Amino acid sequence: MRKILITGALGQIGSELTVHMREVYGTANVVASGRRTPKGSVVVEDGIFELIDTSDVSQIVNAVKKHKIDTIVHLSAILSAVGESDPVKAWDVNVGSLLKVLEIAREYNCSVFTPSSIAVFGVGYQKMKTPQDEYQRPTTMYGVTKSSGELLCDYYSKRFGVDTRGVRFPGLISNVTLPGGGTTDYAVHIYYEAIKNKKYSSFINKGTYMDMMYMPDALDAIVNLIEADPAKLIHRNAFNVTAMSFAPEHVADEIKKHIPEFEIVYDVDPVKQAIAESWPDSLDDTAAREEWDWNPKYNLQTMTSDMLSKLRAKLKNE
Ligand code: SER
Repeated sequence: MRKILITGALGQIGSELTVHMREVYGTANVVASGRRTPKGSVVVEDGIFELIDTSDVSQIVNAVKKHKIDTIVHLSAILSAVGESDPVKAWDVNVGSLLKVLEIAREYNCSVFTPSSIAVFGVGYQKMKTPQDEYQRPTTMYGVTKSSGELLCDYYSKRFGVDTRGVRFPGLISNVTLPGGGTTDYAVHIYYEAIKNKKYSSFINKGTYMDMMYMPDALDAIVNLIEADPAKLIHRNAFNVTAMSFAPEHVADEIKKHIPEFEIVYDVDPVKQAIAESWPDSLDDTAAREEWDWNPKYNLQTMTSDMLSKLRAKLKNE
């Protein structure tokens, strides 16, 4: 059985991936890590947890040695909107810590999964059905770091034989932990506001299409790619994956089927809007489907029903 270290385990993906991986691989085989120990967190309290700041190599090495780790799922990252307000921090966290993880993986013979993003695309590429192998000229610091991360992962794979794998995640929609300052976050906030206030003011304009995915599909993508037969992988870093593509008015229309009084208004944030417009309208994920059987389960309709019922239950208890 694998011995997995998850960095950034308290974040939007990590908080659900940790629970999912404990179910798939066994609680004893998953070591979650983060920079805090929040009280009541199942990530911290229901399994193995290590305090790790990924800017400190020795903290990662100690955990790898102590738990005999063979697989590192490296999630700690700064998202796009925050990256624009602090580009140096975005570079240090997203590229600096990934490089440390790759070096440790080389020395201790670990495989590495780390997410890339739709943000690797910026200008001069095909915006509709963006191909797997496409020109990358990102215009955000986040995109620059994710594109660099793909190159680093490929380099460590080709040069040193480290088993590196990744996906270009679109906006991820989830009901457990809020995303921390991304451009696609509107598609999460809209569900919370629909339940709390029956109204949402969107910082992304109508007509702006971006790819999205419900978290259960994202968790499957990570585990399925980690477990994929390497002989079948033509690509590695990183695969286009998507489940749906929509603009804010489409998710609002879907919410209205459940909450007829719901209203969307627009108060566009120019920085986030410019980022959104630089990203694909839709991705072509054929390579992922062909090479490791990627096949998402949720669409906008089924995701909306599930999000609203889970959030209703959660917000009632808050
Ligand atoms: N969800 C991310 C963001 O908006 C994109 O990968 O920053």
